[in-house]
Amino acid sequence: MPNLRSDAWYAGEDRNAYIHRSWMRRGVPNSAFEGRPQIAVANTASDLTPCNSHLNEVAQSVKNGVYEAGGIPLELPVVSLGETNVRPTAMLWRNMAAMATEEMLRANPIDGVVLLGGCDKTIPSLLMAAASVDLPAVVVPGGPMLTGTFRGVPLGCGTDVWRLSEEVRAGTLSQEDFLLSESATIRSRGHCNTMGTASTMGLVAEALGTVIPGTAGTPAPDSRLLAAAHHTGSLAVQLVAEGRRPSDFLTRASFHNAIVALAAIGGSTNAVVHLLAIAGRLGIDLTLDDFDRIGSRVPLLVDLAPAGRFLMEDLHRAGGLLAVLKQVEDLLDPSALTVTGKPLVEYLGAAAIWDEQVIRPRPTPLLDEGGIAVLRGNLAPSGAVIKPAAASAHLLKHRGRAVVFDSIEDFHARVDDPELEIDATSVMVLRGCGPKGYPGMPEVSNMPLPKKLLEAGVRDVVRICDGRMSGTAYGTVVLHVAPESAAGGPLSLVRNGDWIELDVARRTLTLDVPTEELATRRHSPEAAAGYAAPGRGWEKLYVEHVMQADTGADLDFLIGSSGDQVARESH
Ligand code: FES
Ligand code: MG
Repeated sequence: MPNLRSDAWYAGEDRNAYIHRSWMRRGVPNSAFEGRPQIAVANTASDLTPCNSHLNEVAQSVKNGVYEAGGIPLELPVVSLGETNVRPTAMLWRNMAAMATEEMLRANPIDGVVLLGGCDKTIPSLLMAAASVDLPAVVVPGGPMLTGTFRGVPLGCGTDVWRLSEEVRAGTLSQEDFLLSESATIRSRGHCNTMGTASTMGLVAEALGTVIPGTAGTPAPDSRLLAAAHHTGSLAVQLVAEGRRPSDFLTRASFHNAIVALAAIGGSTNAVVHLLAIAGRLGIDLTLDDFDRIGSRVPLLVDLAPAGRFLMEDLHRAGGLLAVLKQVEDLLDPSALTVTGKPLVEYLGAAAIWDEQVIRPRPTPLLDEGGIAVLRGNLAPSGAVIKPAAASAHLLKHRGRAVVFDSIEDFHARVDDPELEIDATSVMVLRGCGPKGYPGMPEVSNMPLPKKLLEAGVRDVVRICDGRMSGTAYGTVVLHVAPESAAGGPLSLVRNGDWIELDVARRTLTLDVPTEELATRRHSPEAAAGYAAPGRGWEKLYVEHVMQADTGADLDFLIGSSGDQVARESH
């Protein structure tokens, strides 16, 4: 074993080493302080993050694996974010969780870390932290829940809540039946079982190389998850012995593979923001355009909700991520290593598809181009994104008149007003929902349609917003518009009735108003009245320092790495 970072606390015979050891003894043998790697288990288990509440059991398996390999496991509870509960949006706290985790990893006597996440923001925040402290690190994704059914029909988390609630508003489902479905939605422990952000980030973390290949997507109650957790604990000890840090194996090639995976699985648009933020911590020059350049040639192979038919349990049964990646092996960068030290492509040899309905073979993809499209134009000078796979084909090229909402509250107050001037050709615009404006960039971009359109049978219209969209949502939604309106973006200049043109094939988003006229327009005072202006606390720090969506919405001073060194003693 090389010299350990934790030796700076535990080695020697002076008073400080005595203090560090004595408080930590609590029954452990002397050998615990004599050259055995100290492995933190950064655990986002929380009763308020139901998707992660089972991680305490997973942590126990990790600990067993650490002990088996000769290390000392130390559980470190870290900030947890429950997507459905946390207000105003879990995204506001992603950077805070990342910062707190980074600092606690650095401040403590540890040599390596196993990262336990699941619900949407937890894996991104853990990876951002691990990248910035750059200690040997490996992820165990908590895994999706099992498929719940209601009256014989599978229910996808999130996706079917949106669908059923629209059916109630359209008058095709009774309120009573809607509420009856509630208890069937969440069948077991684990995170959302659709291809939402949690599923996406678990799989993308594996494609990136930070998970033992073959682990991500294992359902949370599946005993194979505990076996993988055990192996991961042992691997963490080996990582310390070999000195393998995130900066040693996470390269541009790793992000290339993550983007290919994102496209092939039809993953959440939120992964764009998270991958940009993680790359920023590593000093890797990843841009929004890389997602289009690398991802747009990649076929969509996985038929999962929200865009498709199946759920995560089906994907696992059908062969999982490795079977998907095997189909697009020629598009992967073979040089990218994983946390095990072996290239990702080395794990694809025996990967087979066991159900060609769920994972399509390469010759018969669901779509030829599964990636996320990056749009530019005078309405989004720094870019915006759309997921064509979740959109309506007939709206991918569309010209319509703007119906503008200045805030989500304005939207709620007016959307069902029978007098609202809107029809199936309109373009709904919602502003004030970017990182600074809300604050935190909430998942409101997939605005529900006005009741009168739903009653007329309309199920999709073009929507444009500077916020995000839940990975479980669908529709022709242009999101992450940058710069956001609260940062002076042109979204704030749009007026009701303006013509807007979307052309996904050409990657353009155009506000069809002459430049001279736009120059005379003022930013909407109604929108500005709703922008966040926090006076203290994290929200103030966040609004003052958050960057725009096109670079990952991290705080400007958290970009990069501070490494694992701490200069001063605490006594
Ligand atoms: Fe936790 Fe969906 S609410 S993953
Ligand atoms: Mg979500």
